Amino acid sequence: MPDNSAIQSQLQALAERLHHLNHQYYQLDISEVSDQEFDQLLAELQALEAAHPELALPNSPTRRVGGTITKQFPTAVHRFPMLSLGNTYSEDDLREFDERVQKGLEGAPYAYVCELKIDGVAMSLRYEHGQLTQGVTRGDGTRGDVVTANVRTIKTLPLALRPGPEQPDDFEVRGEVFMPLPVFDELNAEREQNGEALLANPRNAASGTLKLQNSAQVAARKLRFYAYSLLTPGRHFASHSAALEALSQYGLPVSDTWRRAATIEEVLEFVHYWAKKRFDLPVATDGIVIKVDNLRQQDQLGYTAKSPRWAIAYKYPAEAARTRLNDVLYNVGRTGAVTPVAVLTPVPLAGTVVKRATLHNANQIELLDLRLGDLVYVEKGGEIIPKITGVDLAARPADAVPIQYPTACPACGTPLLRPEGEAHFRCPNERGCPPQLKARLEHYVSRKALNIDGLGAETVGRFFELGMVKTPADIYDLPARRPELVTLERLGEKSIDNLIAGIEASKQVPFPRVLFGLGIRYVGETVAQKLAAHYRSIDALMAATAEDMAAVPEVGGVIAVAAAHWFQQPENRELIERLRQAGVQLEVTGEAPVPASDRLAGLTFVISGVFEHHSREELQQLITSNGGKITGSISKKLSYLVAGDNMGPAKREKALGFKVPIISEAELMALLPTADTEAPAPAGTDETPKLPLPVAGPGQQASLF
Ligand code: IVH
Repeated sequence: MPDNSAIQSQLQALAERLHHLNHQYYQLDISEVSDQEFDQLLAELQALEAAHPELALPNSPTRRVGGTITKQFPTAVHRFPMLSLGNTYSEDDLREFDERVQKGLEGAPYAYVCELKIDGVAMSLRYEHGQLTQGVTRGDGTRGDVVTANVRTIKTLPLALRPGPEQPDDFEVRGEVFMPLPVFDELNAEREQNGEALLANPRNAASGTLKLQNSAQVAARKLRFYAYSLLTPGRHFASHSAALEALSQYGLPVSDTWRRAATIEEVLEFVHYWAKKRFDLPVATDGIVIKVDNLRQQDQLGYTAKSPRWAIAYKYPAEAARTRLNDVLYNVGRTGAVTPVAVLTPVPLAGTVVKRATLHNANQIELLDLRLGDLVYVEKGGEIIPKITGVDLAARPADAVPIQYPTACPACGTPLLRPEGEAHFRCPNERGCPPQLKARLEHYVSRKALNIDGLGAETVGRFFELGMVKTPADIYDLPARRPELVTLERLGEKSIDNLIAGIEASKQVPFPRVLFGLGIRYVGETVAQKLAAHYRSIDALMAATAEDMAAVPEVGGVIAVAAAHWFQQPENRELIERLRQAGVQLEVTGEAPVPASDRLAGLTFVISGVFEHHSREELQQLITSNGGKITGSISKKLSYLVAGDNMGPAKREKALGFKVPIISEAELMALLPTADTEAPAPAGTDETPKLPLPVAGPGQQASLF
């Protein structure tokens, strides 16, 4: 029997060291050790936790990657209600606020703290004995959703606090969870590529992310947090500024943009300074929050029914610009939906130059009575994608041309249809309309579908333009067309090797992802998983009626009709036959399928040797069905080497040299979800299964401001 207490102290020491390094890195921008050393310490901790799961610490740094599935979030009542702030849009209002404060304090001297108002989601965190124990959303202000497992994935948030002066034993931290702008842009670019609806702004993105059921997906979204207040039952600090300083000392991220202001004039200076400067920040802000600094004075001023009398939010006006509408383009998406896009004379707006704006659909053009040549108002507001909000009718040129919404598809000429109750016109030429065909190919190779290595959206688009690939089935003919491929510019031997290996490997991608990749309207990832789990093979699915499919949980009537219709089309049946010939997975394999997940997303594996319980192919499938990737060679970027018996010594040496963790078959199994972890968490708990997964090491910009 190993000595548990020795292991416990080893676990403790490693966790403390990693917490310390995380703090140095994310809060102070200091790298005490190299990324490799960090990863090695983490791997050590993971290995220890994998070997002794019962000893793993609840707030271990390995838990940031998530892994908890919460079907329905339990709710909790806030110990202190989460109030909102009174809003103002004018400087006069701010001066009036100051007069009210002055009156309320009966002539006593006072000062303010000014902070940026981050446009994210309010969050209440509870720290007990220095440990993060709960994260609750604002909800209705009295009761919110318990999203602790998701909050734990936020890298800049300490799971364990640094000891600091006057640290309360039990307190709450309020702050804003947000999605940094570069992360938001990346997410939307990916969604666009997958033909998914774009997220309107980073606030929606952050709030949607916090509500995801799988905390591993939350971890991938790279949320951040800024603390803006500390709450205890009694008055613990004398001033808000002292509390902010204490929060920083305890290791909580506090934006260092806050300032004390002695007078309302200084407040206004702060407001003016950030009016433009805020667009240089990698985070969306929509105003300034002004708070009376002294906490006794805050108490003295008190609250109205909804908000404190000692604070106010100044909101910057939505930025608008006036520019000329030169043209309207019509994009045809994967499902044939036609979206009008305004082409504008470039104009600077809210920190970027705007050249295009969305017009949503035909209704919008009619409502605005838009004409080509019009001077239009473009706004960014909370939305990142600019929109046209109005027309300067007084400035309308005499020759402004009314916009003729196309009646035929701008790409293929087929008459457009507008189905009852839909806002979009649609091109019904599913089989022949080039942008639809191309977008479907891009979808098929995309990360969440077949994820074909060496064949990204751009390359498959190029093959399409060249007429080499029209449907997903044509992709599988590419390896035999090597002589043609070598004649293509910018496609070297090595890329072709990669491409062919990627196509070959995609034949192992499990059926649910293939089904998703087919791009059937309304069949997203989840529906594809439900359908695959229910019917288990494409043949059974093809034989099913719409009525039958609609009875599958989470598959509604509209989806069922669309899917049944799709499977009836002769060309789709032919596509499936060709995919079958190529060896693509068209059924669920194995007796008790391991639930597919994206638990291993972003991780790469090399499998080597002979294994006790599974064949190499089975292990490969387990990895790919959970979002991981298999590669052939060991490099420093490799996440894990899965080692069986008779693995060559050279591989081991190389992995050791690159400090790549070497894991056994059993350790690999521990990384995968089990049927249990997919089950709903019992109400009132947020137990995270102990997952020895690597946490992305230092590698991101530490401080946002
Ligand atoms: S103080 C009782 N400070 O703005 C007042 N709020 O209605 C508590 N917000 O959704 C709020 N940045 O989450 C405060 N520096 C800041 C803030 C901030 C963003 C959000 C807050 C709430 C809204 C206020």
